[in-house]
Amino acid sequence: MLVLFIVAAFQLGLYAGCIASPAALISTSRDESGVVKAPLDVFEVQAPLRASYKGTSCEQVVLQHTFAGSYGTPYVGTYSPPDDCDFTTTIFNLSVTSSGINYDRLGLIYFGDVEVWRTTTAMPVRTGIFWNYQKDMTIFDTLLRSEQKVIMSMDNLYDSVFTGAYNVTITALYYNDHQTLSPADLILPISTQSSARDKASVISLPDGNATVSFTLPRNAERAVVSVLASGNGAEEFWFRNVPTEYTGTFNNSALRAYSPFREVQVLIDGVLAGVGWPFPIIFTGGISPGLWVPIVGVHTYDVPSFEVDISPWLGILCDGKPHSFGLAVVGYDSKTTLGTIGSNWWVSGSVFVWKDAGGNQTTGTAIQSSSAEPSFQLTPNIISTSNANTSLELHLSGQRVLSHTSTITTSSGPHILSWSQSLFYYSINNYTANGSNKTISALTTGTSSFSPSSKYSPPIKSTFSYPITFRTSSTTPIDATTANSTIVASLDRSLLSNSIPILSYLTSPSLFAIPQVLATRQTGSSVYYWNDTYYEFAGAIDPAMGTSGSTEQWYSAVSKVGVYGRHVKAIDGYEPVLVVDEEFPTTIAVPETELVGIGK
Ligand SMILES: *[C@@H]1O[C@H](CO)[C@@H](O)[C@H](O)[C@H]1NC(C)=O
Ligand SMILES: *[C@@H]1O[C@H](CO)[C@@H](O)[C@H](O)[C@H]1NC(C)=O
Ligand SMILES: *[C@@H]1O[C@H](CO)[C@@H](O)[C@H](O)[C@H]1NC(C)=O
Ligand SMILES: *[C@@H]1O[C@H](CO)[C@@H](O)[C@H](O)[C@H]1NC(C)=O
Ligand SMILES: *[C@@H]1O[C@H](CO)[C@@H](O)[C@H](O)[C@H]1NC(C)=O
Ligand SMILES: *[C@@H]1O[C@H](CO)[C@@H](O)[C@H](O)[C@H]1NC(C)=O
Ligand SMILES: *[C@@H]1O[C@H](CO)[C@@H](O)[C@H](O)[C@H]1NC(C)=O
Ligand SMILES: *[C@@H]1O[C@H](CO)[C@@H](O)[C@H](O)[C@H]1NC(C)=O
Ligand SMILES: *[C@@H]1O[C@H](CO)[C@@H](O)[C@H](O)[C@H]1NC(C)=O
Ligand SMILES: *[C@@H]1O[C@H](CO)[C@@H](O)[C@H](O)[C@H]1NC(C)=O
Ligand SMILES: *[C@@H]1O[C@H](CO)[C@@H](O)[C@H](O)[C@H]1NC(C)=O
Repeated sequence: MLVLFIVAAFQLGLYAGCIASPAALISTSRDESGVVKAPLDVFEVQAPLRASYKGTSCEQVVLQHTFAGSYGTPYVGTYSPPDDCDFTTTIFNLSVTSSGINYDRLGLIYFGDVEVWRTTTAMPVRTGIFWNYQKDMTIFDTLLRSEQKVIMSMDNLYDSVFTGAYNVTITALYYNDHQTLSPADLILPISTQSSARDKASVISLPDGNATVSFTLPRNAERAVVSVLASGNGAEEFWFRNVPTEYTGTFNNSALRAYSPFREVQVLIDGVLAGVGWPFPIIFTGGISPGLWVPIVGVHTYDVPSFEVDISPWLGILCDGKPHSFGLAVVGYDSKTTLGTIGSNWWVSGSVFVWKDAGGNQTTGTAIQSSSAEPSFQLTPNIISTSNANTSLELHLSGQRVLSHTSTITTSSGPHILSWSQSLFYYSINNYTANGSNKTISALTTGTSSFSPSSKYSPPIKSTFSYPITFRTSSTTPIDATTANSTIVASLDRSLLSNSIPILSYLTSPSLFAIPQVLATRQTGSSVYYWNDTYYEFAGAIDPAMGTSGSTEQWYSAVSKVGVYGRHVKAIDGYEPVLVVDEEFPTTIAVPETELVGIGK
């Protein structure tokens, strides 16, 4: 059967073993008449990380590798810290080229057993694409100053049909900003710890085991967990799933199970320490591939992590004994409130630990906790004829508050350390036309607070909001091998946040003392045609098939660098055109995402 949301970010090991002939990896880009065309810049809008990228203390290539038939065979290399180079800030510049036909792929970059960057690819076109993306790596300073095994996995198919290889270069740019850094002393991986076997250490949930055990140093004074988690494969579009009891609502349209809600949990000794309610990332094959050339979705090249401050737990964790650190992903379940999920949530975590130089053993009072299960409300409405359901409208709302507080005593005396979160979720998913038209509207918002290092300062609060609406309708050919199919899609989504990232703040307090403010919205619509046979075996944006539509993005940021605005609009298609591309040395007005049926 035709899968409407078509492109999985990666495919499981089915095609392992397609090894490419390296000579043919990236061919010269020519159009139909043989004219060499410049590769297309398929970009993610991002604010510059610095006023200027010039003025490095030194630079070096961390990784250069072409992922062709790379299923199950990650790149493995060595990182060596730069010689004779004074640096405080480190930025990685990821640069990728590809041409041909392929799906979007997931890239996992590990330093040893610690995942340092999760990225996904654009889908190539025959005439070639490229992109560059910069990520500040300074929080990993302790890893950057010693030798590391570098492992990058990007499971790609490469054969006579999937002709797009991904040529990846990562360059480290080192800057001396003459700031006092206080990076974490230790970074402990919540991962499969497979680097010794030359494998990426990602854990696949719910099937894998995401619980590891560590003995922390007795003099730890701060500890923060950073978690990367993305739904892939069957869970790529978790946000348009239905509670399990509704999967059979329509005869000819299979709806996926485990609800449209997901929570990623961090557990210490089995007790919930904090959660992430994930950003609904949409990869470049997602909803409609026609939406994502040449402007890719928010967070495509840098899958977001979330942070949980576990410092209130240090009184327990510094007892010199092993403690378990676990990750879990759960969905809403009508019977048990929280329950299992489909396969392929890929997760990993890192415990960043700061030591108290003057202390022998950190102690703490009992933790004052509030972490009741979230409360949910589900309201279904089914419209039926005498023998079949024609539409299903589901409202699901949920909220959770959680906090942990304790007085932690280090060599500098007692500090009250607390971590608290307050989260809200509301979705209205409307499956109509016997399940073949879908309108998904969801709003996830939240606040979190952590205690700064200075004893007398109030907690630092961050907020986020992720509204998203999209509609899709598809004509499903009776025989998908002989007829064309069409996807009509429209999308409106935003990411709004006002935050002080905990790890950046603890690593460089002077640089990250002010909140980073981001407001970005993407809207788009696309009519995407494909001959299913052709599509399945030859891939994405192709002149013989066609697509039409447009994608527009507003982006407004306040960061340690200053303020930045950008407004872009593209007419999509095989030869996409940027009809608007404006940058501003100011913030800009970002119109609000319109949610169907959900008020503020
Ligand atoms: C990143 O690398 C690409 C490819 O080498 C280059 O064109 C671009 O200027 C680099 N960006 C920065 C900020 O160094
Ligand atoms: C990959 O890109 C690098 C940097 O641009 C280039 O030197 C190399 O030749 C490319 N590799 C292939 C196989 O095209
Ligand atoms: C997961 O791994 C941990 C640490 O190795 C072990 O203690 C635990 O029993 C495992 N859990 C399961 C369900 O296998
Ligand atoms: C209508 O949907 C409900 C809920 O999913 C299901 O239990 C029922 O069997 C469906 N009816 C028909 C005729 O398919
Ligand atoms: C849907 O499936 C049910 C149960 O198999 C069947 O009774 C009904 O006729 C089907 N309805 C349609 C419209 O195909
Ligand atoms: C650390 O231990 C040493 C030796 O037991 C002791 O003399 C010192 O007072 C301790 N320091 C603190 C801050 O507790
Ligand atoms: C869901 O779809 C039904 C059938 O088209 C429609 O009557 C209803 O208004 C829609 N609900 C929302 C919230 O848009
Ligand atoms: C939905 O199914 C019913 C019963 O099979 C059919 O009469 C109707 O035309 C279908 N509607 C759409 C929009 O496909
Ligand atoms: C389904 O969506 C298509 C395209 O947007 C639209 O033409 C059609 O009327 C919709 N069908 C129903 C029953 O809402
Ligand atoms: C499929 O789409 C192609 C490209 O738009 C078109 O040339 C062809 O006629 C279509 N085939 C069918 C069966 O509709
Ligand atoms: C679909 O594409 C394949 C591969 O190019 C071609 O053989 C077939 O005739 C096409 N079918 C239709 C209905 O256009």
